[in-house]
Amino acid sequence: MQRAVLKPGKEKKVKNFYPTVYADELAEAPKAPGITRLYAAGGEPLGTGYFEPGSRAALRLYRFDEGPLDAAFFEVRFREAARRRERLGPYHRLVHAEADGLPGLVVDRFSEVLLVQVRTQGAWALKDRWIPALERVTGARAAVLVPTEYGKKAGLSLEKRALWGTPPKTLAYEEDGLSFELPLELAQTKGFYLDQRENRRLFEAEVQPGMAVLDVYSHVGGFALRAARKGARALAVDKDLAALGALDRAARTLGVWVDVRSGDAPRVLAALVAEGHRFDRIVLDPPALAKSPRDLPRAKHIFTELLAHAFRLLAPGGRVWVSSCSYYVKEADLLEAARRAGADTATRFRVVRITHQPDDHPWVAQVPETLYLKTLVLEPHPIS
Ligand SMILES: C[S@@+](CC[C@H](N)C(=O)[O-])C[C@H]1O[C@@H](n2cnc3c(N)ncnc32)[C@H](O)[C@@H]1O
Repeated sequence: MQRAVLKPGKEKKVKNFYPTVYADELAEAPKAPGITRLYAAGGEPLGTGYFEPGSRAALRLYRFDEGPLDAAFFEVRFREAARRRERLGPYHRLVHAEADGLPGLVVDRFSEVLLVQVRTQGAWALKDRWIPALERVTGARAAVLVPTEYGKKAGLSLEKRALWGTPPKTLAYEEDGLSFELPLELAQTKGFYLDQRENRRLFEAEVQPGMAVLDVYSHVGGFALRAARKGARALAVDKDLAALGALDRAARTLGVWVDVRSGDAPRVLAALVAEGHRFDRIVLDPPALAKSPRDLPRAKHIFTELLAHAFRLLAPGGRVWVSSCSYYVKEADLLEAARRAGADTATRFRVVRITHQPDDHPWVAQVPETLYLKTLVLEPHPIS
């Protein structure tokens, strides 16, 4: 097996379970891509991973010992991941990359069908080892590859295709009595945002009959539909007509009504302000607004704009639920954007609650990148 050797002093973070070794941390590196054993400068073996020459994140460790990366290894990893999700029912994230000891691999389980994201060259190179193991462990009828921005950035040009089985035309998803059907094309681009499941539950619990609820960046309306079934008047906003179509079908199945507006969220919010609307609950759940640290100022600016609109639209006693799914936008950044929006709209507010992603998207303390979803629940708290 080929070998890589760390520069002196660089072994500490690996011994503390950080799985990515950067090119400039290596004193000795292989010439070719492939499975590689990592050693400390003193010769101690530290782990086994996949080496990608030319990549800044040069070596991604799959294990912190000297064992092989064979089909049996992947089978154990998938079994461990499945065991941790046993109580979650048939719809969940089964594999959350590094957090589950599987760098570059994300698997969402929709009962009999899996959506699989491959985000690194290494994970793709190892596919003949993990695909059969994944099929064996899950017994899923079909697995579909989902191309992602991460994969593209890593130089992968993967097509939407089946890894095994025949993919269905639509993907079904159920959550606490809500049933959705998504055209496969849309499911492969966006999925169902399983990571907001717990927030949707918490949100529904605080909706009262007769409330006015605004679900911005609604996708298939997971928040809006729950509000509607509690007897609220719900309005959902998204720019994706296919997602709004799925929302409409889910509403009919449930026997509720949700108003929709398609379009660019900040513009729709400005129009709602101009029209004099008021809402008791507002959800702001934009897509990842910062894909690198460079994007952070712009992301904060957009959050400030969204929150200022939301504060203007709140009825007395109302609340805003604002989420960021970008690793680079920290809780403190969201809070700062909220304070700026408060300053722009003369709104003093309190933080009612802060939540993070649910159990099936584990946040491993030693791998900071595994924490990405933060949600603040904010409520105006005026004094004179
Ligand atoms: C993180 S998802 C929202 C998930 C949703 N809250 C749920 O619980 O399923 C972001 C959504 O924003 C939508 N979107 C992206 N840019 C938009 C824009 N400028 N205006 C309106 N919607 C947008 C996408 O179509 C996507 O459905």
